[in-house]
Amino acid sequence: MTTLYLCGAGNPEGVRLALTVNRDQNRWERIIILDDDPTKHGQSILGVKITGSFTELEQADKASSEVANLVARKTKGRQAVLRKIQAYGLPLATLIHPGVDTLGVTFGRDITVYPTAYLCANASLGEGSVVFMGAIAGHRSRIGCNCVVGPGAVVNARVELGEGVYVGTNASILPDLKIGPWATIGANSAVVQDVPAGATAVGVPAQVLIMDGSNRSKESSNGPAAEQQNPNQPCDPTTPESEQTEIKSRALKQLRLAQEKYIESYRLTNDDLIHQEENE
Ligand SMILES: CC(C)(COP(=O)(O)OP(=O)(O)OC[C@H]1O[C@@H](n2cnc3c(N)ncnc32)[C@H](O)[C@@H]1OP(=O)(O)O)[C@@H](O)C(=O)NCCC(=O)NCCS
Repeated sequence: MTTLYLCGAGNPEGVRLALTVNRDQNRWERIIILDDDPTKHGQSILGVKITGSFTELEQADKASSEVANLVARKTKGRQAVLRKIQAYGLPLATLIHPGVDTLGVTFGRDITVYPTAYLCANASLGEGSVVFMGAIAGHRSRIGCNCVVGPGAVVNARVELGEGVYVGTNASILPDLKIGPWATIGANSAVVQDVPAGATAVGVPAQVLIMDGSNRSKESSNGPAAEQQNPNQPCDPTTPESEQTEIKSRALKQLRLAQEKYIESYRLTNDDLIHQEENE
């Protein structure tokens, strides 16, 4: 019996997407939800039963089963679940809402696209990426492997998201910017400059919130992004931790310099405006 296993019971919208895709394409004879939280077993979401833990995948027939990773709250958590799923060697299912126009869009494997997402021509989505409802991937934007673009977020034209980038609800990233791997963009933020790898950027305009153990401070997001991964290349989450730290600290030094320049140019612009008003 052809079966779709949905992994993670915390995302009813993902269950609805799977049901809608199946109604349109008739791909599976049954759909089942798996979750490692035993308190959820036996419950149902939209009539789809949570039958057990991920270990049920051991019994799945590889030729007639597919798996979808519904976990998308954080990209690291999503990746952890992906690794668990991959251990069972089953093919991952792509779920794209039938109402989404995909003409001229390039897709890796294991893609999830929710209703009302808008994928512009020549956008590309790397393996394992998710685009939520109402989000926009601009033309020639490149969404890397394992990225999540939250509801209503706008990834403008030619923007590049490195691997594992999380873009929060309604955030907007201006055209041509580069967001480094595993960076997070806060909900409703407006990103006006590149964001370095591993950083969290929040606000309008977005500032980088540095997470370093218990220390947190805000830095301007103005500055170059750390080295980018080509989003169309296969995922390789193997960069050693020490190297990641070095990349991050180099990028942050550059950020500070760029911030000083930005503040200076902003001050000049304001002064010019004041003089202009005085002369009117
Ligand atoms: C950016 C984010 C990941 C940070 O989460 P966090 O690490 O738990 O950080 P905190 O909530 O402790 O906030 C830290 C600081 O950033 C500020 N902040 C957090 N999110 C912000 C945002 N989106 N815009 C502006 N400021 C924000 C907080 O006010 C706080 O400021 P303070 O240090 O001056 O008090 C989170 O706030 C966010 O925006 N997540 C996106 C959620 C989303 O869109 N989900 C989609 C569902 S499908």
